[in-house]
Amino acid sequence: MPGITDFTGRTAVVTGGASGIGFALAKRFLEEGARVVIADIEQSAIESAVAELTALGEVRGIRTDVRDLDQVQALADATLEAFGRVDIVCNNAGVETGGTFLNITEQAWRWVMDVNFFGILNGCRVFLPILEANGGGHIVNTASVAAFNSGTATMTPYCASKFAVLGMSESLEVELRTTGSPVGVSLLAPGPVKTRMIEAERNRPADVPPATEPGRVAMMEKLAATTAEVGLDPAEVADQVLHAIRTNQFFVLTHPDMAMAGVQRRLDWMKTGVPPAARRAGS
Ligand SMILES: NC(=O)c1ccc[n+]([C@@H]2O[C@H](COP(=O)([O-])OP(=O)(O)OC[C@H]3O[C@@H](n4cnc5c(N)ncnc54)[C@H](O)[C@@H]3O)[C@@H](O)[C@H]2O)c1
Repeated sequence: MPGITDFTGRTAVVTGGASGIGFALAKRFLEEGARVVIADIEQSAIESAVAELTALGEVRGIRTDVRDLDQVQALADATLEAFGRVDIVCNNAGVETGGTFLNITEQAWRWVMDVNFFGILNGCRVFLPILEANGGGHIVNTASVAAFNSGTATMTPYCASKFAVLGMSESLEVELRTTGSPVGVSLLAPGPVKTRMIEAERNRPADVPPATEPGRVAMMEKLAATTAEVGLDPAEVADQVLHAIRTNQFFVLTHPDMAMAGVQRRLDWMKTGVPPAARRAGS
């Protein structure tokens, strides 16, 4: 199945589009002549993003909490009303919190799974019928190299949520290819990228306690240092995503060696029965 090669006049919806990778995607779509809807939970960030991008083309910001199916449906309705069609949906919003296993609260688990997994599921369930009715389209689900790397200390909920995105997206893509759907799916699995992900707790709901265990704080400092050193520019990630949409490629691996090493660790574990040592984020 051919991908979308010409973005002119297309409409792209990007969740988590007010910052980081989502913002870079929104910018890139606009540069290619698409119309863009930025959906994000942070109203002030939406306003800044729209102000910054408005000279590039038609862009709207719609405050959306991707955890809420009704809000995602309202996002789709508003996009169709504004632009008449949807061609590309980037389910990209994500958050991170954690700690040692027994110190992670039920509310923290729910927050991470609700945004990172159910947010993406909501996007797929609402937009897939719209794209199919259009005669074609593309869905990009943002996971992480964490989807291939179990055992990163203090990041169990994040890791679990990204495994869930991987499993759901792979199964969806296989089902769509088997049934001859005109909609393609890509899985974006970034390694370190220079964004505000390290400050994800800025969007923490009131009932989620801050993650302040010393071991956890040390892990986040290490991750921040690694990202500052070797992290990609979000614009490079956006370029890779557009290439994947054009070529209808499923896996978008910004750091393929990290992804492959994670899979290899699991294969070795399965073969030998010996679990690997805990990983440090960013290593
Ligand atoms: N930056 C990295 O190194 C990295 C690595 C792997 C995966 N990722 C993934 O990339 C995606 C984008 O993150 P980023 O790195 O650009 O971080 P970011 O913090 O810069 O952007 C995330 C955006 O998601 C929004 N958001 C949070 N909760 C939301 C909700 N409930 N509803 C709607 N929007 C919400 C935030 O307001 C923010 O604008 C995430 O899924 C993240 O897990 C990032």
